Amino acid sequence: MLAVKPDLAWNMLYLQVEIICFQRKITIILRKVETVRERTEEEQLLDQQLEENLSRIKDTIVIISGKGGVGKSTVSTNLAVALARDSEHQVGLLDADIDGPNIPKMLGAEDARVTGSDNRLAPVKIKPNLGIISMAFFLPDKDSPVIWRGPLKSGAIKQFMGQATWGELDYLVIDLPPGTGDAPLSVAQFIKDVSGAIVVTTPQDVALLDSRKAVNFARKLNVPVMGILENMSGFVCPHCGKEVNLFKMGGGEKAAEEMGVPFLGRIPMDPRIVESGDSGTPFVESFPDSPATESFLKIVGECKGYLEHKRR
Ligand SMILES: Nc1ncnc2c1ncn2[C@@H]1O[C@H](COP(=O)(O)OP(=O)(O)OP(=O)(O)O)[C@@H](O)[C@H]1O
Ligand SMILES: [Mg+2]
Repeated sequence: MLAVKPDLAWNMLYLQVEIICFQRKITIILRKVETVRERTEEEQLLDQQLEENLSRIKDTIVIISGKGGVGKSTVSTNLAVALARDSEHQVGLLDADIDGPNIPKMLGAEDARVTGSDNRLAPVKIKPNLGIISMAFFLPDKDSPVIWRGPLKSGAIKQFMGQATWGELDYLVIDLPPGTGDAPLSVAQFIKDVSGAIVVTTPQDVALLDSRKAVNFARKLNVPVMGILENMSGFVCPHCGKEVNLFKMGGGEKAAEEMGVPFLGRIPMDPRIVESGDSGTPFVESFPDSPATESFLKIVGECKGYLEHKRR
């Protein structure tokens, strides 16, 4: 009988263990390759969906500002609602503020949820011709924070733009978070031909610095600046009717002049704008005869004029 030497037996055992380890490593690598392939397929599908969606949107308007709290979401909602007053026009409103999505609250759709299947998201309809998409529709409740890093937020924005079943749109209004961070960068990266950016600012001199930054940011991203909008410009006292310039006046106009971009107009301060936002009823509809609505509509007219001129 052939006796196997103990050294040889150990070596064979060692070799068997090595082979098993090698097989495991190969399996792990193959699984990783499969995951990357699947992800690439998903990304390719999303790129394709994005391209299809963008080809069906006539004009994309982004609302930006150098700093927070100047009224971007207020302007976005009222602009979208005002554009949708023409029932012939289809309007989409994308809330690209992933951390602080408050468009649904401003439009009374806080409890709505996005529906859809097969990598598709149906926008929540505020009116037959106005649909919105917001991160708020995906959160378990309204107090849940979104603790995501930039790339995840950017991915969510891409999904919102690509997977939403917007259909044919005349206008897509995009409300952005303040500043010059990931979200505006992502939007400019995904939409190569944004029709124009509205820079919202307040009238103080210090706001000049912020709007300059926002204008330069848009220019760096090759996004045409539709103009600067001065919000919270003057306050008419409801008791004595006298106009008080709480935040001074003219900062936005001065910035527009300096930067060589159009000045779109000013919207006065009106406490009812806060109430409208909080109660989810668009201001331009609730107070059609107010001076602020008049200003909003004038600015909407300016924007439409800009877009028509651009299309010619
Ligand atoms: N013209 C105005 N008169 C009175 N209140 C206003 C006016 N414009 C906006 N507001 C109020 O100011 C607050 C901030 O507005 P809004 O949320 O639109 O700003 P924002 O720029 O979107 O803020 P953020 O940078 O945090 O996204 C809201 O309570 C809104 O109702
Ligand atoms: Mg906002």
